[in-house]
Amino acid sequence: EVSQPAAGLRFTITAGPTQEPLDPVRYLSNHSSGKMGYALAAAAAELGAEVQLISGPVNLAIPAGVNGTQVTTAKQMLEACESRRSTTDIFIACAAVADYRAATPADQKIKKQANQDELVLKLVKNPDILANMAKATTDKNNPRPFCVGFAAETQQVEDYAQDKLLRKNLDAIVANDVSDNSIGFGSDENRVILFTQHKQTIQREALPQGSKLALGRQLIEKLLAFYKEQKTL
Ligand code: PMT
Repeated sequence: EVSQPAAGLRFTITAGPTQEPLDPVRYLSNHSSGKMGYALAAAAAELGAEVQLISGPVNLAIPAGVNGTQVTTAKQMLEACESRRSTTDIFIACAAVADYRAATPADQKIKKQANQDELVLKLVKNPDILANMAKATTDKNNPRPFCVGFAAETQQVEDYAQDKLLRKNLDAIVANDVSDNSIGFGSDENRVILFTQHKQTIQREALPQGSKLALGRQLIEKLLAFYKEQKTL
């Protein structure tokens, strides 16, 4: 019999990439496969949590015991997350959300122009889903969930991750060095550093490299312990 330390807790987890349309047949996106986010969802469900997985387009099956919502764009992911904000205890943002989208997606397929060697696309910033979820509120009907981010970085990984932890008002952030192809986008394994924050004091813990599922289990256990510690303070 597996113990259920997360029983009664509601997790909302984002995973995968977002796709931002340029025209009816093209989009901007990235190489996120969803593996890390799906592993976290599976791990939380194993521990008895009620899990909502909000996923961009990936080729993975929703893990056993997990509720799945499929979205395409960052705006859709934001809406799906916000509609669950007040009923989420722990929010984990593992999705690789496109930072920018086309200012005006074309209604029809953009045609190649014979006399035009350059095409300039105008992009506008997408909303930051994690920062929105982590915003402080005084509204008792819409409390702020415990918020966990990921930081996918190719340089100064630890510094940038800690910046994001403080700037986005998070409880924890998972730093992922994606300059190493064996532990980032699309890989089966990962190696990360977990930073937790309480009142601006940051604690650091490096986790050993392993499968995304093994790492997902470790992360969920550590986050759960930190969440419970916060609750009793
Ligand atoms: O999916 P896999 O192939 O398994 O790969 C896993 C992963 C590399 C995608 C994952 O481990 C990871 O690092 N995910 C975060 C990717 C990312 O976009 O990081 P970021 O540093 O750009 O964003 C920081 C945080 O803000 C993230 O929690 C992100 O989900 C969130 N964000 C970013 C932009 C935005 N508009 N909204 C957000 O919520």
